[in-house]
Amino acid sequence: MSIHPAAKRHLLRKLLVFVVLVVIVAALVWWRDDQSAKKPQIITSTPSKSVSTTPASFDKSQHSINDPASIWVVVDKGRILPSNYTPVNLVVPKVALSEGSASENMHLRSEAAGAVEKLVAAAANDSQKLILVSGYRSFVTQQAVYSGYVSSQGQAYADATSARAGHSEHQSGLAADLGAQSGQCQLEACFGDMTEGKWLATNAHKYGFIIRYQKDKANLTGYAYEPWHIRFVGVDLAAELNKTAQTMEQFFGLTNYADYPTQTYQLKSGV
Ligand code: DAL
Ligand code: ZN
Repeated sequence: MSIHPAAKRHLLRKLLVFVVLVVIVAALVWWRDDQSAKKPQIITSTPSKSVSTTPASFDKSQHSINDPASIWVVVDKGRILPSNYTPVNLVVPKVALSEGSASENMHLRSEAAGAVEKLVAAAANDSQKLILVSGYRSFVTQQAVYSGYVSSQGQAYADATSARAGHSEHQSGLAADLGAQSGQCQLEACFGDMTEGKWLATNAHKYGFIIRYQKDKANLTGYAYEPWHIRFVGVDLAAELNKTAQTMEQFFGLTNYADYPTQTYQLKSGV
């Protein structure tokens, strides 16, 4: 059977159109599959919990601020320690001492002693040689120290630089006066300008201490700048006070006493 040439051409055109259409459809199917493969996968299972970077709020009730034996006890011109309060765990820290180890004021509460040992060792690593000038002072010793200042310098000076008996952190065994081993600027404001004093201001909090009587804060603390007086409160609170640049009183929402009030708050055990 012979096909007319015109019909043959018509058939060939149809075949060509069909082949082109098949190629186009195949190309479209391939393109669609390729696009869906590139789409991000949707995970329907529960995602694992992400770790929060927001720090939990600081728990201000971890320790008492009223119990003389608490490492957070707040002692100031308005808050007085019992006259018979003596810390139970006084030890001599293994650091350079300014007096013989039998002296009362070469002792500290064991928590503070351990921390001061670490602090002094770290300072020595940075070539800053520190010594313990004064640590624990009993009620009776503090009475004598304060009276000595009143006699020699007058009451106004005494009250700006020395606590009355019962009002000194030194009676808690948690405060230490440090000095440079050279003896330069001992218990003087210029200690803060020395490399030893600067090291102390920068690093004390890492070992759980704060500089309790800061520069230009006498209106809050009641005492002139004492760059040598460090108070042990533990690393967590020291870091927080260092970060917020607050006094203990500000941090705990207490009154800052620049002067002695007519009525003082009696700190007592078990509260
Ligand atoms: N120098 C400080 C205030 C004290 O006597 O405890
Ligand atoms: Zn002191």
